[in-house]
Amino acid sequence: MHKTTVKKLLHSKANNQKVALKGWVKTFRANRFIAVNDGSCLANIQCVLDFEKMDETVLKKIQTGAALSLQGMLVESQGKGQTVEIQIQQIAILGESNPDEYPIQAKKHSLEFLRENAHLRIRTNTFGAIMRVRSALSFAVHKYFQEQGFNYVHTPIITGSDAEGAGEMFRVTTLDPENIPRTESGTVAHREDFFGKETHLTVSGQLEAETYAMALGKVYTFGPTFRAENSNTSRHLAEFWMIEPEVAFNDLIDNMDLAEDFIKHTLQAILDNCQEDLEFLEQRLISEDKSKPAAARNEMTLIEKLNFVVKNEFKRISYTEAFEILKNSKPNKKKKFKYVLDEWGADLQSEHERYLVEKHFNAPVILFDYPANIKAFYMRLNEDGKTVRAMDVLFPGIGEIVGGSQREERIEVLKEKIKNLNIDEKDLWWYLDTRKFGTAVHSGFGLGFERLVLFATGMSNIRDVIPFPRTPQNASF
Ligand code: 4AD
Ligand code: MG
Repeated sequence: MHKTTVKKLLHSKANNQKVALKGWVKTFRANRFIAVNDGSCLANIQCVLDFEKMDETVLKKIQTGAALSLQGMLVESQGKGQTVEIQIQQIAILGESNPDEYPIQAKKHSLEFLRENAHLRIRTNTFGAIMRVRSALSFAVHKYFQEQGFNYVHTPIITGSDAEGAGEMFRVTTLDPENIPRTESGTVAHREDFFGKETHLTVSGQLEAETYAMALGKVYTFGPTFRAENSNTSRHLAEFWMIEPEVAFNDLIDNMDLAEDFIKHTLQAILDNCQEDLEFLEQRLISEDKSKPAAARNEMTLIEKLNFVVKNEFKRISYTEAFEILKNSKPNKKKKFKYVLDEWGADLQSEHERYLVEKHFNAPVILFDYPANIKAFYMRLNEDGKTVRAMDVLFPGIGEIVGGSQREERIEVLKEKIKNLNIDEKDLWWYLDTRKFGTAVHSGFGLGFERLVLFATGMSNIRDVIPFPRTPQNASF
């Protein structure tokens, strides 16, 4: 018999047809009711056993976590909570589970405990819901760009250029750490390494994506990205997934429009396709809120929050305007910020970003035209000579979710900036070629995929929205 899924069964009408199903035991009660889940959806299907007809040894093996194969009749459910159930006719244990050792019990586990069991946490309702939403969001990302005529570019993961300046990099080498070859002057002989030079894991695919945009017009990347910053926060990973669209002939306004439209479309897609999981995650937050003081509770439910972002315009203001708001804000005047803002040009910290988004505007905010000296070399310099055409999208509860810019397309200005940063022009010869041959206005941005998943699921720690998180001192699994 062809096996079906729990999701399909729960959506079908019961007319005593015979069905076959494989899945895992979630719970078994009264020696009679097995709740079976196969990952196809959040809900379990109730399977009813006639234990008098059952072999005692099989019965004993029906334990939480065990894998089963069963056949039976799909009938209308007599009990509450479900419309259909399976009357079991045949059952086989495919894989036993040991209830005394199995870490995932039918009770609430802390997220910290589940992180230590990341290989099993996906079997809980919470992580099943998160990872199905993550998958649906990835699909929505590709669907959005493909429908808009973007080409998907696979930029390299190992990079030979260290010019992005986005963060600390992980070294890639095959040199023997016990026996590092040296040059005559005693420095490491990189020439003897695998690539004949120093190489690292990429912090961004942008520079390569720019070269592709200058031929294919509209491109995007969606791949793993690595940063060796020692920031142990709930918003940073050492390995994360970034989406980077890059578009020829787009200026900064077009870039902001694209970022806003893109985020709204992907969130709408999960509102349309992940209702059951979102409702579960919403309830999770509501019950979590109950144990918090009133002031710390969420004002909107998860689904209300997602709808709010999809339906309302993001606020757009310049760094200079934001700086004025922040400088004159209560927490700044009362020195409540950890970093008190005083002089124009200071980098904004996450506490400032969150004040703007959560207290002042109460909406997503796009900040643009940042001081040049706190942003990357490739951003286009404004006429004022001190700000660049940068933009960051800031989200409630998250802070920065997108960072992007209009790129400096004028070769002389770009060379000047490279020189001031003491970057060797020769390292960027291929990047500079795009400005030499058919240069044009172009723009792009990077969205940290896990930060989008955080927002979409209402989770608060980035370690809980990627299957196997890599953070300082942690690369288990
Ligand atoms: O602002 P960032 O550093 O921008 C870039 O890398 C540009 N090259 C992007 C571009 O214009 N194509 O990073 C972009 C986004 C951030 O806004 C944030 O959402 C995410 O990547 N991000 C991280 N996410 C998780 N863990 C980290 N350590 C992150 N660092 C950045
Ligand atoms: Mg940034």
